[in-house]
Amino acid sequence: MITEKTAQRAAYRITFAQCKGGTGKTTACLSVAGWLTKMEKKVLVVDLDSQGNAVSGLGIERSSIDGSMYDVLSGRKTIREIILETDSGVFLAPSSIDLLSVETQLSGTVEDIGILNPSSTVP
Ligand SMILES: Nc1ncnc2c1ncn2[C@@H]1O[C@H](COP(=O)(O)OP(=O)(O)OP(=O)(O)O)[C@@H](O)[C@H]1O
Ligand SMILES: [Mg+2]
Repeated sequence: MITEKTAQRAAYRITFAQCKGGTGKTTACLSVAGWLTKMEKKVLVVDLDSQGNAVSGLGIERSSIDGSMYDVLSGRKTIREIILETDSGVFLAPSSIDLLSVETQLSGTVEDIGILNPSSTVP
């Protein structure tokens, strides 16, 4: 039986990060997310890039977004409130251009933020 505790243990986080631009981070992330979803895993893409390319990559109209990781990181919304289900079955916590300003605000406080803990994201 899957309890909330075992679901938390089974949750993995994969980070796609690289300082250099145009190195395939978004492409690799969406590709892995798509394959894991096909393998019947529940996948949440958390886009922390202010360019927000995961939105178009997953076929979402930007105008349909009501809340982004900017709202989550600045304490306005919970991550559950902004999660969208896409046609491919991949779930997305979208970013927005506002994330540019959060970077400086969060500098030095990141260790206090628990929004990506499985208990915050597993429905
Ligand atoms: N494995 C690959 N082989 C060939 N081209 C690729 C591959 N992965 C990504 N690309 C191409 O490289 C370009 C950059 O890819 P992508 O947007 O995923 O990079 P990124 O690191 O997310 O960029 P950014 O730093 O701007 O967010 C795109 O045109 C993409 O189609
Ligand atoms: Mg990218």
